[in-house]
Amino acid sequence: MKRAAIITSSDKGYRGEREDLSGPAIREILEREGYQVVFMDILPDDREMLSGRMAEIADDGLADLILTTGGTGFSPRDVMPEATEDVIDRRVPGIPEAIRAYSMTITKRAMLSRASAGIRRKTLIINLPGSPKAVRESLEFIIDTLEHGLEILTGEASDCARK
Ligand code: MTE
Repeated sequence: MKRAAIITSSDKGYRGEREDLSGPAIREILEREGYQVVFMDILPDDREMLSGRMAEIADDGLADLILTTGGTGFSPRDVMPEATEDVIDRRVPGIPEAIRAYSMTITKRAMLSRASAGIRRKTLIINLPGSPKAVRESLEFIIDTLEHGLEILTGEASDCARK
């Protein structure tokens, strides 16, 4: 069973001033798809705290997939792409490209998400936007294709030959 961690970037969520609806939306989709959700963290919009948590999860081999929500926009506190890029070994630009391309068919504001993605060791990290609506639209679009990438990353599949 693939293990997934969810990180919500939200100052207000961290302080308990706003209920995090996006983390649970991710969890619902992942569990429906057969993933085991091993962590759900709500952290402030702090580059070092976000990158530190992602590195810890990857380095300790605690999850195969980290999905983040929030902090991808233009507010000065939106630093999730930077925190992600601080810790990845290899970039995976195709996933945010695919999310933005699909999301642009729903709202032109999708172009305002600066979301990034990459691999640290054997963990795939993907940024999703912040709202529950955007999370659902983005994740539903990529979820079936993620499985094959994760199989290659974790060594369960060797190549794309039969796909
Ligand atoms: N993507 C989808 N699929 N649906 C949406 O409603 N909203 C956009 C964008 N991506 C949206 C979306 C908006 S309005 C913004 S500002 C950016 O995501 C960044 O969101 P964030 O700062 O909450 O991460």
